[in-house]
Amino acid sequence: NWTMENFIENAIKRIRATVGPTAEAIGAVSGGVDSSVAAKLMKEAIGDRFHAIFVDNGLMRKNEAVQVKKALDDGLGINLVVVNAEDEFLDNLKGITDPEKKRKAIGYTFIHVFERVAKSIKPKDGSNIEYLLQGTLYPDVIESVSFKGPSQTIKSHHNVGGLIDNMQLKLIEPLRELFKDEVRHLGELLGLPEDLVWRHPFPGPGIGIRVLGEVTKKQVEIAREADYVFIDEIRKAGLYRQISQAFACLLPVRSVGVMGDQRMYEQVIALRAIETVDFMTADWFVFDASFLKRVASRIVNEVIGVSRVTYDITSKPPATVEWE
Ligand code: XMP
Repeated sequence: NWTMENFIENAIKRIRATVGPTAEAIGAVSGGVDSSVAAKLMKEAIGDRFHAIFVDNGLMRKNEAVQVKKALDDGLGINLVVVNAEDEFLDNLKGITDPEKKRKAIGYTFIHVFERVAKSIKPKDGSNIEYLLQGTLYPDVIESVSFKGPSQTIKSHHNVGGLIDNMQLKLIEPLRELFKDEVRHLGELLGLPEDLVWRHPFPGPGIGIRVLGEVTKKQVEIAREADYVFIDEIRKAGLYRQISQAFACLLPVRSVGVMGDQRMYEQVIALRAIETVDFMTADWFVFDASFLKRVASRIVNEVIGVSRVTYDITSKPPATVEWE
């Protein structure tokens, strides 16, 4: 009979059979539930012959890089390599404002950094890295089959296809048959922290597509701080699990305000919170007015560089979840 406990046991057996007794594997971890669960299965199956690589692109949420390291390395005992590549990502984003070009620049930089780090990992006994772990889920499998070509892709979602071509690695996808809720259940059974298991999805390009216009360190910082306040209030109000995804976007337009008796002329934050089952369609989340008032006042008071806060009340379709 099919149970999650059986699934774990079988997945581990299958990984061992595939990789064999000496080969090694690598995989990228992002701090999301899919890559973390996949990495934990690898660790259970082949121990330190699995090398997880976490590329800190400088575009993650506040404190996230530190939390990921703590959860995977200290918490789950996964053999983890952390690379701080913030400068490289920001350099490659200089001057770019077009959303798809940003995605491409971020995706390209990611592959570049990942490859470099992967090549620097030298297994001790001279065996080779032969396998690449991917946290592909069943809906991703369906989607990539049904998409007929680039003309039908609305947004080019982050993918690491290029890695396999360049490095000649064989793919391991232990979550291919699972839906998201099953992966979360698996994460709980495998002892991942609750916070990680239930974290809202976060796009690969991260804050890079939540800072509209050019992405600079300063702009990322403003978006990140505003996002932190919003999510903090959502958690305090007990709404985090009810909302499917929530975040702040920084709009590069300036707006006049007053703070004390000072005139300010700063940028605008747009908040987005949605409820959805499959992310193909989504409704904006209906907050109490008092909640929105509190968040707006905190953001303008606490985040330097913001003079105005708006709430996005567009459903998907026609609007997408992300602004870019
Ligand atoms: P959209 O904006 O297309 O988003 O309605 C649907 C879901 O996909 C996420 N998303 C991305 N995820 N790379 C990702 O890994 C991307 O480039 C990307 N763009 C959107 C978005 O956060 C939402 O969960």
